[in-house]
Amino acid sequence: MAHSEQSNWRLETLAVHAGRAIDGATGAVAEPIHLSTTFERATDGTFPSGFDYTRGNNPNRAALEKALALLEGGTVAAAFASGSAAVSATFQALSPNDHVIVPVEAYHGILRLLRNIFARWELSIDFIDMTNLDALRESLRPATRLVWSESPSNPTMKLTDLAALVEIAHAGGALLACDNTWAPLIQHPFALGADLVMHSTTKYFGGHSDVLSGAVIAREESDFFQRIREVQRLAGGVPGPFDCWLVHRGMATLPWRMRAHCENAMRVAQFLESHPRISKVHYPGLRSHPQHDLACRQMERFGGMISFELKENGATALQLPNKLKVFTRATSLGGVESLIEHRQSIEGPESLTPASLIRLSIGLEHPDDLIADLAQALAR
Ligand SMILES: Cc1ncc(COP(=O)(O)O)c(C=O)c1O
Repeated sequence: MAHSEQSNWRLETLAVHAGRAIDGATGAVAEPIHLSTTFERATDGTFPSGFDYTRGNNPNRAALEKALALLEGGTVAAAFASGSAAVSATFQALSPNDHVIVPVEAYHGILRLLRNIFARWELSIDFIDMTNLDALRESLRPATRLVWSESPSNPTMKLTDLAALVEIAHAGGALLACDNTWAPLIQHPFALGADLVMHSTTKYFGGHSDVLSGAVIAREESDFFQRIREVQRLAGGVPGPFDCWLVHRGMATLPWRMRAHCENAMRVAQFLESHPRISKVHYPGLRSHPQHDLACRQMERFGGMISFELKENGATALQLPNKLKVFTRATSLGGVESLIEHRQSIEGPESLTPASLIRLSIGLEHPDDLIADLAQALAR
């Protein structure tokens, strides 16, 4: 299938076919898994298949990367063994004394990675409130190479105006990278001008809570993306062939799963908003969300993640997950099963998250069952 043909397809069609072909050797319809770490050379020393050693490339990784680039609307992708490895490779592509600007509310693992490791390697980092565009303008310096963004933010669902960030970052000579983990296929950072999109594909892409993986996708081939690719191949934080296969298989149903995650989440958010024990519901699809207008401009749907704050104290919030039967008490998101978590206790002492906040990852169960489960847990 020609790349040009695929780029005209709608997302549902691309998701089923991108990076897939009938296996020439066997006629297999499902993608074979190539566990081999090494590939035979021809007598002239070349590698006719294009593969030589699996850290460098592998048929399952190549197929996954092709599909990731097509589905996100980019040109090239590099797959990694986790979302965190993808983030690391992006920052490793920079040089000491390069300056980066990062949201103070980014995923807490990224904040730790930057503070504990990259600051030591002399990357210069400013953490700012990325919803404040003046703060971004004021933080830009001649050495600023990259502005990092994440929208909606975790766990309070603040949105950043991605088109505005792109304009400011580009005017300052910096690249704009977006962690789009929470909004795959429902928010299109490349269409808004972003240069790089990162995903923890552990989440919605894999979709079944059974594979850890990540990716960086570039709008265009560039020297910067080539450096990320170099880190991928030389540092070796690559996903194994079976991991690639699992993520690629998950992707076939991603557009339809996203639709259901979002529909379910809207129902649950509306229920929570009407509940007398709850003081705030953070969900961009609700009219009460302070940035609902921006959500309508920037997102096609509003995602499967919700957080809410109880009127009571943090100790009550910590106990609430114990009362649920359909939701599982666990971290992470984007799987078929709904998860519930008291967020501050997982983020640790540096957490800025209110003690009364509970985060939900809404799965694919029937929304009435999810609502009934929350209703019984919230009943006094
Ligand atoms: C928004 C976001 N970015 C990055 C990551 C890191 O991904 P991984 O756990 O695959 O390393 C996570 C994990 O929860 C996340 O939620």
